[in-house]
Amino acid sequence: MITYLPTYNIFVTGGAGFIGSNFIFYMLDKHPEYRIVCIDKLTYAGNLSTLAAVMDNPNFRFCKVDICDRKAVYELFEEEHPDIVVNFAAESHVDRSIENPEVFLDTNIKGTAVMMDACRKYGIQRYHQVSTDEVYGDLPLDRPDLFFTEETPIHTSSPYSSSKAAADLLVLAYHRTYGLPVTISRCSNNYGPYHFPEKLIPLMIANALADKPLPVYGEGLNVRDWLYVEDHCKAIDLIIHKGRVGEVYNVGGHNEKTNIEIVKIICKELGKPESLITHVEDRKGHDMRYAIDPEKISSELGWYPETRFEDGIKKTIKWYLENRQWWETIISGEYQKYYEKMYGDREQINKK
Ligand code: NAD
Ligand code: DAU
Repeated sequence: MITYLPTYNIFVTGGAGFIGSNFIFYMLDKHPEYRIVCIDKLTYAGNLSTLAAVMDNPNFRFCKVDICDRKAVYELFEEEHPDIVVNFAAESHVDRSIENPEVFLDTNIKGTAVMMDACRKYGIQRYHQVSTDEVYGDLPLDRPDLFFTEETPIHTSSPYSSSKAAADLLVLAYHRTYGLPVTISRCSNNYGPYHFPEKLIPLMIANALADKPLPVYGEGLNVRDWLYVEDHCKAIDLIIHKGRVGEVYNVGGHNEKTNIEIVKIICKELGKPESLITHVEDRKGHDMRYAIDPEKISSELGWYPETRFEDGIKKTIKWYLENRQWWETIISGEYQKYYEKMYGDREQINKK
């Protein structure tokens, strides 16, 4: 008897960015029979060279489209008839949202609505929203017993997290009001290949390699729960296939580290002196601690993080050493203006 595997056409928005590109590689490898259509506006954070390895794959298509552009999105749905949409597309950097919130409202909220309107109009088996643990706000440092569960109230701090929370509420409203088959994942901090160099880990790797100061905000005692990006991709693959419609799944690895610990690990791995560490003015509204309780996704879907931080950070540093061209091209362009604006005038504070 011949058994046919179900095959899907999956729209991946934001697939030229960090997690979206890793998800595309993961899916084309794990499900070679699926078709993947990447929709990306190619903002400063999107990079077509990231997708070079899959551009010739006959099951892959790249479309330069803004998810806020309703006409272009509808045309693509008419042409491709996707079965599943995974929405990664977003403005994702907290510091940029503090400088200029507006584009965050456009892409993260209105763009999400456009994608879901298209799903309602043309029909879909699943709409998946890639969200963040930042929608829960932060936890106090003196209560290590507390974790974010799916029941933790939404309580945001930055324009970025507020825009992501607004999108989550819209997604749940489209499920209740229109019966759209949605799921949401709320993940902790990812790290790994193709992470844009404005974010903590790649920024510190790039600066350390150039013997430049390592700008730690405030005392560096803020805690993040780090997850290797491939583990996040596996979680989303499980949720879109087996997750229950209308549900939220928290994704995180019980791998909490202070920022200063992370920076010291990077110095040690690269053989660079800790004297490069420079404490600078803190981020406004800076969240103290994020920590995910992944019990629901573990017990319902059998997900667990497979990459230990000690291994993941070594793999990540190796990747940055072996792929210098990818990030050196980024930091030699427009990014320099951003870096000067964000760090040039930032007051240095003396903390050890
Ligand atoms: P990223 O900034 O690296 O990539 C975002 C991608 O979206 C880029 O390719 C960009 O060109 C594209 N994009 C932006 N605006 C667009 C628009 N209007 N239309 C189409 N494409 C657009 O982001 P990332 O770190 O890969 O994050 C991806 C998603 O995962 C985001 O939704 C983010 O909120 C969420 N998330 C990220 C993390 C993390 O640690 N990075 C953790 C949890 C959740
Ligand atoms: O928790 C998930 C979130 O993780 C995602 O939703 C966001 O898209 C993603 O950007 C990330 O947000 P963070 O703000 O936690 O990540 P970032 O890498 O910007 O900063 C991590 C920590 O490091 C944070 O406490 C601020 C600090 N930091 C960051 C930078 C860029 C520094 O001390 N110095 C820096 O130069």
